[in-house]
Amino acid sequence: MKALLLAGGLGTRLRPLTERWPKPMALVGNRPWLEHVVLHLKEEGIEEIVMAVKHAPETIRQYFGDGSRWGVNIQYAIEESLLGTAGAIKNAEPLLGDRFLVLNADIIQRTPLVPLIDFHHKSGALVTIGLTEVEDPSHYGVVEQAESGRIARFVEKPALHEAPSRRINAGIYVMDKEALRYIPPKREVSIERETFPLLIEQSGGLYGRLLGGYWLDMGTTDRYRKLHRDILDRTFPLQLHAAERDQSIWIGEDAEIGSGVLIVPPVLIGSRVRIGERSVIGPYTVIGDDCEIGAQVRCAESILWDRCKVRMGAQLNHCIFGHDLELGPHHRLHEAVMNRVPGGIS
Ligand code: GTP
Repeated sequence: MKALLLAGGLGTRLRPLTERWPKPMALVGNRPWLEHVVLHLKEEGIEEIVMAVKHAPETIRQYFGDGSRWGVNIQYAIEESLLGTAGAIKNAEPLLGDRFLVLNADIIQRTPLVPLIDFHHKSGALVTIGLTEVEDPSHYGVVEQAESGRIARFVEKPALHEAPSRRINAGIYVMDKEALRYIPPKREVSIERETFPLLIEQSGGLYGRLLGGYWLDMGTTDRYRKLHRDILDRTFPLQLHAAERDQSIWIGEDAEIGSGVLIVPPVLIGSRVRIGERSVIGPYTVIGDDCEIGAQVRCAESILWDRCKVRMGAQLNHCIFGHDLELGPHHRLHEAVMNRVPGGIS
């Protein structure tokens, strides 16, 4: 079965990190999230992947190429204009088979996919939505289902006591090609707002099945920070490409830690990172590959992507830096989210 990854959105809520960078390529535990998705699909036995791209597509294509480095085959469906979450699926139709998986590429999960696919085979659904349960459903479209799993309706942002369930769309679907008849071509179409209601009304073929395990939509900077706390706390058990040198201190290959450096766990330090003497790193800090941290730097609760330079005596607290940023000596930053774009550096 092929998997279609929706990876073309603008990621406006994660700006400026996503200004020229696709949201699904945001580093998560020092790797683009999309790479974790590809590895997960491979583990699940899915080796045929189509990526639906629009915003900064070359970043994704250059990184993954034909997928052979990961033992998968990747094709690309490129949109000329934004087509939305259903329009992007319709646009990829020529590359898809009779039945396929669709995943929002910015959803953080590593759920087993086979039970969802099996359920879809047995239920006779046109589309099966993977569902997740949230504590407070009042910000979401909440699912009302029959015993069989068939979805009767979505209740948009219900008051807590009026919510028919705590189940919401997890952004993972199994679809039959026939469902694409319900998506008009060559225009922007939202799967949540247009296609699902139409499928309920006209086909009765929309089903849902609860997925287990961790689930997070990483679409805002707050959630992106939470995600990293969850990784470092092991609430979300993600395979990190660094050795755990001490309790909750992961350090990548060829990192050089200067004398007198204090690392306060949990901390993830990437490969080839250099940290100058008497710096204090952590807690809840992730430093990307090839970063250079000067002497006497303090860096807490922050996430730095690859190749950043933080000069001597600088202090960072609760910051997120995109790739290749430089912070001058003795600068102090608190809660800054920055990227290398005009106006992005504050
Ligand atoms: P915001 O602008 O912050 O809402 O982010 P977004 O539009 O990038 O993401 P959203 O959560 O709305 O979309 C869910 C998933 O669908 C993400 O992985 C997006 O990359 C993807 N997506 C959204 N719109 C499109 C689109 O028009 N084309 C393609 N190919 N993917 C899309």
